Amino acid sequence: MSPLLTIAVRAARAAGDFLLRTGERLDELRIETKGPNDLVSEADREAERRIVEIIRRAYPDHAILGEEGGAQGDVGSHGARWIIDPLDGTTNYLHGLPWYAVSIGLEIKDRLEVGVVYDPGRDELFVAERGKGARLNDRRLRVSAQTRLPGAVVGTGFPFKSHQHLDAYTETFKAVSRAGCAVRRAGSAALDLAYVAAGRFDGFWELGLQPWDIAAGVLLIREAGGVVTDIRGGERAMKTGNVVGGTLRVHQALLDTIKPHLGADLPA
Ligand code: IPD
Ligand code: CA
Ligand code: CA
Repeated sequence: MSPLLTIAVRAARAAGDFLLRTGERLDELRIETKGPNDLVSEADREAERRIVEIIRRAYPDHAILGEEGGAQGDVGSHGARWIIDPLDGTTNYLHGLPWYAVSIGLEIKDRLEVGVVYDPGRDELFVAERGKGARLNDRRLRVSAQTRLPGAVVGTGFPFKSHQHLDAYTETFKAVSRAGCAVRRAGSAALDLAYVAAGRFDGFWELGLQPWDIAAGVLLIREAGGVVTDIRGGERAMKTGNVVGGTLRVHQALLDTIKPHLGADLPA
């Protein structure tokens, strides 16, 4: 394991252990609303604080983009930026639903190098390093062998925070369902992507995600032999947050199925 991955794993485990313990006293947590259907709790903030502390101690000059703390530090000549979602699946977590994860990605000069998604409830640690493959705990990961949409299990997320793309999304949902997929909406995009890497899901699509939801998961899928792009098949997924992923063939079939239903105003 490279020193960068070691630090990412240490930070993800520290946050995950904290979230697991704190999840036993949810009724004591202070919860605020950031926007419509967008909750944040002390647990999100404290988990991010612990992650940032570990990264800063190891790499004081690296930049950080955290969901709760925003952008911190300059991307200097090294070009390193950590992209952190301390708790992906906040709505689940705050309702006691055991489906959430910590997501930490590292970009160097705009290229994803390290990705870690940690599910503390199941003690499942998904890790990837560019060019070195992806693993779940000690097992090497490979996307599934699924080649077609009929019979595929596909993860997704509903646009519940912003309803701007709800109509476009609903049309894509109908098309994917009609194509014969079993669609799952579990509530953590980071975990959905990790599950594609692990071959548990055959594909995934969602509109309007943020870089911290997907940075680690995108690398996991690529290193497990899958494909992730933006909604039109290009390379802007980290910018637009409109994401399609899967095995080589399922990804292409999802793109073909979804594309006719996207309005011209929807960014790639
Ligand atoms: C959310 C989860 C959810 C997705 C939302 C995200 P959060 O992240 O990933 O699955 O549908 O779009 O915002 O707010 O729980 O960190
Ligand atoms: Ca998130
Ligand atoms: Ca979050």
